[in-house]
Amino acid sequence: MDDFFIADEERVIAPEYISDDTDIETSLRPHSLDEYIGQEKAKENLKIYIEAAKKRHEPLDHVLLYGPPGLGKTTLAGIVANEMGVQFRVTSGPAIEKPGDLAALLTSLNDGDVLFIDEIHRLSRSIEEVLYPAMEDFALDIIIGKGPSARSIRLDLKKFTLIGATTRAGQLSAPLRDRFGVILRLELYSPEELARIVQRSANILNIESDKDGALEIASRSRGTPRIANRLLKRTRDYAEVMGSGIIDVESAQQALGRMEIDELGLDLVDRNLLRAMIENYNGGPVGLETIAALIGEESVTIEDVYEPYLMQLGFIARTPRGRKVTTAGYRHLGINPPFDENAQGSFESY
Ligand code: ADE
Repeated sequence: MDDFFIADEERVIAPEYISDDTDIETSLRPHSLDEYIGQEKAKENLKIYIEAAKKRHEPLDHVLLYGPPGLGKTTLAGIVANEMGVQFRVTSGPAIEKPGDLAALLTSLNDGDVLFIDEIHRLSRSIEEVLYPAMEDFALDIIIGKGPSARSIRLDLKKFTLIGATTRAGQLSAPLRDRFGVILRLELYSPEELARIVQRSANILNIESDKDGALEIASRSRGTPRIANRLLKRTRDYAEVMGSGIIDVESAQQALGRMEIDELGLDLVDRNLLRAMIENYNGGPVGLETIAALIGEESVTIEDVYEPYLMQLGFIARTPRGRKVTTAGYRHLGINPPFDENAQGSFESY
C-alpha cells in the first residue's frame, strides 16, 4: 500500500505552478492575441470585444475566464490589458483577506485598468459584496461608524475592467457570476497546438527542437501549455547531458521515459490512482473521498487536477455511486478487466 502514497507537491506534470516555473513562464508569455496559440474561440470573441470597446473609448466589460489550471488564463488577461493599452494589476482570491484590502486595490486603479483576480471563487462573501457595486456602478460603499449611528458613504471609482479567473465556474456565487458581461471557457489544447507552443518556446529559450520532438513532448503534456513548457525544459536538460543537445523524437522519448511519464502523459501518481482503485475496490465504484484517502491527496485536487485528464482519456468514469475504472483504464495498466464493458452499463458523462 505504501507505494500509493506518492502524491508530490513538485509533480512534473502538475498543471499548477511549481517552483521552477516562474522564470520560464514570464519569458515565454505571449504579449498579443496574434502571438497567443490556441483557444481560437475565446480569442476571436475577445478580439471583437476589445475592438468595440476601443472604438467607443470605453473600458472592456468585466470578463470571467474559466477552465482547468495551466491553460493560460493569467496570460490571456495580461494580453487583454496590453491590447487595451492599460495597466495590468494582478491579485488572487486567497490574497485578499479583508474588504479593506480590496478597497485599497480598487481605489488605486486608473481609468480602463485591468484588475485580474485569480482563483476568484476563493473570495469570501464579505469581500464579494465590496465587488458588486464596484463592478456594477464603479462605486465603493463604505460604512462609517457602528450601530444606529452607522452610515454609508459612496466613493466613486475609475472605470476599470475586472478579469476573474477560476478553475470552477460552478463554485462562483450567482450574483458574482451574473456581473460578468463576458464569460469565456478555456479548453484543453490539442497536441498540434501544444507542439506549436513548444516550438515557439524552444525558439525563445534557444533550444534546438525539431517538429517531431516538439510533438512528442506535446502529446504527453495533458493538453496544458504549462506542462508542455516544463517538459521542454527538463527534456533539454536530458538532451544536453545525455544526448546531442537537440530535442528530437529519440531524446524526447528518452527524457520523458526517465521521468516516468508515459506516452499518454500519465505519471506514477495517475497510474497509482488507477491501480489503487483496481486493487482495493475492484475498479470501483468508489467515492471521491475514499480515493483521496487511498492516495493521500485532497479530494479537490483529485477533482480538479487528476480526474479531468483521466476522464478525457476515458480511463475513469463517474457513476451515480462513485468513480469507476473503465476497460480502457485497465488495459492501459496492462491488467485484464474483470468485466465486460457492455455489461458495465450505466456510466454517466457529465
Ligand atoms: N505559452 C504558454 N501558453 C501559450 C500560448 N497559448 N500561446 C503561445 N505561447 C504560450
